[in-house]
Amino acid sequence: TVPGSFIDLVAGPSQQAIFQPDGPASDLWTYNGSAPGPEIRVRRDERVRVRLTNNLEEPTSLHWHGIRIDNAMDGVAGLTQEPIEPGESFEYDFVAPDAGTYWYHAHNKSWNQVARGLYGPLIVDEDEVPFDRAHDLTLVIDDWRLAGEGTLDVASLGSLMDWSHDGRLGNWLTVNGRAMPVNMLNAGEPYRLRLINASNARILEIDPNRFDAKVIAYDGQALPEPVRLTYAPLMVGPAQRVDLLIVPQAGSDFVIEELSGDTPFAFAGFEVRGETADGPGVPSLPVNDLPEPELAGARTVRVEMTGGAMGNIGRVTYNGKVLEGSDFRDTGQVWAFNGIANLPETPLYSAQRGETIVIETVNNTAFVHAMHVHGHHFRVIERSGSEIDVGQPWRDTFLVGPQQTTRIAFVADNPGKWLYHCHMLEHAAGGMNTWFEVT
Ligand code: C2O
Ligand code: CU
Ligand code: CU
Repeated sequence: TVPGSFIDLVAGPSQQAIFQPDGPASDLWTYNGSAPGPEIRVRRDERVRVRLTNNLEEPTSLHWHGIRIDNAMDGVAGLTQEPIEPGESFEYDFVAPDAGTYWYHAHNKSWNQVARGLYGPLIVDEDEVPFDRAHDLTLVIDDWRLAGEGTLDVASLGSLMDWSHDGRLGNWLTVNGRAMPVNMLNAGEPYRLRLINASNARILEIDPNRFDAKVIAYDGQALPEPVRLTYAPLMVGPAQRVDLLIVPQAGSDFVIEELSGDTPFAFAGFEVRGETADGPGVPSLPVNDLPEPELAGARTVRVEMTGGAMGNIGRVTYNGKVLEGSDFRDTGQVWAFNGIANLPETPLYSAQRGETIVIETVNNTAFVHAMHVHGHHFRVIERSGSEIDVGQPWRDTFLVGPQQTTRIAFVADNPGKWLYHCHMLEHAAGGMNTWFEVT
């Protein structure tokens, strides 16, 4: 048996420069003093215990995004556990059954707590680790909104504009909490780059072909073969991950750029040193063993997403209802929180354990959404007007475009209460937040 790890995390306020290393420090909320929090790296099937102590002035909880975890450890305040009150601790105790790139983040008023820095990477190693640590780089990317002097714009957190439109979009990207870090790579050697989008709402648009990289995993799940994309850009939505494989050639220094703006924003630099010799072979990633959905006889659940008019505070809803669980109240006061404790009392559906569920998500809004299923990975089986993601990869979060319909399928095999929500965190808080039950 693997002995297991014990990790202490303390959520609390801390100061960190995010604009430039010597720039002014922002008032962040972090795990163990830095955003992102420490990289938690465990072995597949290892027992992990994490004691989270809450030194914030408000309740919190911690979610292990993408892990097929025991429901009681899923960390959703108000649904799977009581919120952890200020001064209290909670011990998470779980086993991660699948290798890959995951992350952890606060799951109580996430739109606020994640925006302030409460997130970190969670890496689950394969039984035989394919890339050694020098060739396995984690890039946690965040999109911050900085105000004048280059500090976190706290005053605009929760603004009506963000809640009713695309969510909170920033103006500054960091990787592992730093602006434009430069990594050194050896020519001719294969590297795994794990990109994690920790933004509240920013969809990162990147083109791996610009630096000759292939995709080897999405949302933690390895592809059978490395894939060279035949389209661009690759959209990496909030909470989504992509693992890239690169074998840099001598003299081919490069940057990774985010392409959604008017001008590309370079957020990570790479310098390639040495001569390209006969490097080691490219290791392959083992594919996780996830239950394959059987579409014949599967139950389809339809979710229609609509957005209210501005007169209705621009709220986004499921099936025409504004669900509680929202931080957003009918008073029209954005800051009148309701907490996350009031999720709808009845689930979107109740599945028998082992049943294949198809969720058909009809996006009748003018915005893109990043839909996330807790506790399960799914396949995208159909998407109107686009083939992206259809067929091959497993995902735990998918993008659905304006007026697009997307069908996903998965085996509901993990008992408990699981969220289905938009990972644009302002949208989730504004009502785009529901749950299903597996019994
Ligand atoms: Cu990344 Cu509900 O979570
Ligand atoms: Cu999740
Ligand atoms: Cu959304």
